[in-house]
Amino acid sequence: MAIPTPLKRVAAFERMGLGMFVHWGLYSQLGVGEWTYHIHKRDKDEYKTLKDTFTAEDFDAEALVLTAKEAGCKYITLTTRHHEGFSLYDTCGLSDFDAPHSAAGRDLIREFVDACNKHGIVPFFYHTTLDWLHPDFNENFDAYLEYLRKSVEVLCTNYGKIGGLWFDGNWSRKDADWKVGELYATIRKYQPDAIIVNNTGLGARGKVGHPEIDSVTFEQGRPTPMDREGMEKYVAAEMCHTLNDHWGIGKNDFNYQSPRSIIEHLCACRRVGANYLINIGPTAQGGIEPMQRELMRILGKWMGLYGEAIYRGKPHPATCSHKKNFLLKSEDAIYAFIHDLGRSGNANVTVNGEIEGDSVFRGVSEPIASVAWMDNGEVLSFVQQDGVLAIDATGYPYGMSTCVRVAKATLKK
Ligand code: GLC
Repeated sequence: MAIPTPLKRVAAFERMGLGMFVHWGLYSQLGVGEWTYHIHKRDKDEYKTLKDTFTAEDFDAEALVLTAKEAGCKYITLTTRHHEGFSLYDTCGLSDFDAPHSAAGRDLIREFVDACNKHGIVPFFYHTTLDWLHPDFNENFDAYLEYLRKSVEVLCTNYGKIGGLWFDGNWSRKDADWKVGELYATIRKYQPDAIIVNNTGLGARGKVGHPEIDSVTFEQGRPTPMDREGMEKYVAAEMCHTLNDHWGIGKNDFNYQSPRSIIEHLCACRRVGANYLINIGPTAQGGIEPMQRELMRILGKWMGLYGEAIYRGKPHPATCSHKKNFLLKSEDAIYAFIHDLGRSGNANVTVNGEIEGDSVFRGVSEPIASVAWMDNGEVLSFVQQDGVLAIDATGYPYGMSTCVRVAKATLKK
């Protein structure tokens, strides 16, 4: 059975490849994760007073956008409203539990979108569907759903063209009628090219929940290859991932991913054609933790060397002798992602002395003209015969170690 052709918006989303997730809200002032209201059983009225100290004085939308841009991200997904029910945007009278009615006194999503547009980054809006503080969520669900729909309508009509809506929370009431058809119809009415995502959560990664969904989610877990044969609609895939153990800032969460881990997860996503959405959790008033900024900066350095392969490459069916290694293909090239290379140097200073590693790929029918490392142009010897491509993947030169090294094979004309 045929694989459906992706809609234009879905193909464009897939090509972006790398996004930055941003979890910021009243909870950030407490520094113990975005679920603190629920998990720590906080008093509702006391929690709501957090808006009176939410000054957003450290929030610099351009700095946030440039952090993503310098990391090689093409889009940013920012929590416009999380489960606490506080909106970073002007809800236009729907609620006074929003940024214009807080100590910030301004529409933070307006600033975010303006900065995105100024720097060519596509703005995506994360929006909770559940609401721990809204009385109707438990007492009058249909009225609550209309509040939710009108809230999303504000986002779809007040901020120009947006990249997409990223919903999260339907997993909280599995048997409820969330009237998603009405919600998605509202989006389609005003933002026909917006990507619609609805997080299926940790327990249902990769599941398509509705015909209007444009991408499935793999929360905190590496995406598996999607079998799209016979599907009505081609849906993209995206893995969302924390830098440490929390989405919203955890001031005492030191369990950060290494740069290598971030890079390998990104590559594992692209191996199956999925996007990688890496998260930062700004500080109480919207600043960026230096550690998080630096990790994004290192990611950007890696993308500076190999980004072409991440953006242009699509999954290649070849298999490799080294299980972590894989190929991506574009119209005019093949990219070989090589892991665990050693490095040359000196026996007295260089660990992992093994500096060469054959990478043998089976199932490569495209005739290869030449192969070279993308980072320094070093031409690599290779043999191709009967669909087998063996690349002499030389180790890193002393002074360099990029965690995953990418070689570009140009095809014979
Ligand atoms: C989970 C968490 C939520 C977070 C989301 C990000 O749904 O409950 O807090 O925003 O994952 O994917």
